[in-house]
Amino acid sequence: MKKPKNFLDATDLIRQATEARERAYAPYSHYAVGAAVLTADGRVFTGGNVENAVYPLTLCAERVAITSAVAAGARAIAAVAVVTENAGTPCGSCRQVIREFAAPETPIFIADTQGRYRERTLAQLLPESFSAADLDDDKA
Ligand code: THU
Repeated sequence: MKKPKNFLDATDLIRQATEARERAYAPYSHYAVGAAVLTADGRVFTGGNVENAVYPLTLCAERVAITSAVAAGARAIAAVAVVTENAGTPCGSCRQVIREFAAPETPIFIADTQGRYRERTLAQLLPESFSAADLDDDKA
């Protein structure tokens, strides 16, 4: 049977995030991060962190992947994989940026470079999140 367009293969998404991590630019922290985002229309976008000599200008891997997806016309996110050497968890800013394009039940796979991973929902990582719905006048 044909797979649905946004068929979720966690292992494959993690593999793509791991490959993106190899292209991370992290000469200051030496903490390379890779991310892969599966969009609702079945495409995968990846990114690695991009650091800068002006440290605060650093871009996280998740936000590089998401901005790339949005630039390509994608909007809804169906799943995210993040890979670091020690399966570090996504930062708070990235959780909020994921929330902009993903529902609370969206799976987030947090993996190490050996392929070991844990699965969380976005709601677990970012409970009671603020989103576009909160800007809706009818809800005020
Ligand atoms: N980093 C990410 O790319 N994603 C996260 O969710 C956490 C932190 C990067 C930023 C910086 O380049 C390095 O990891 C250390 O903070």
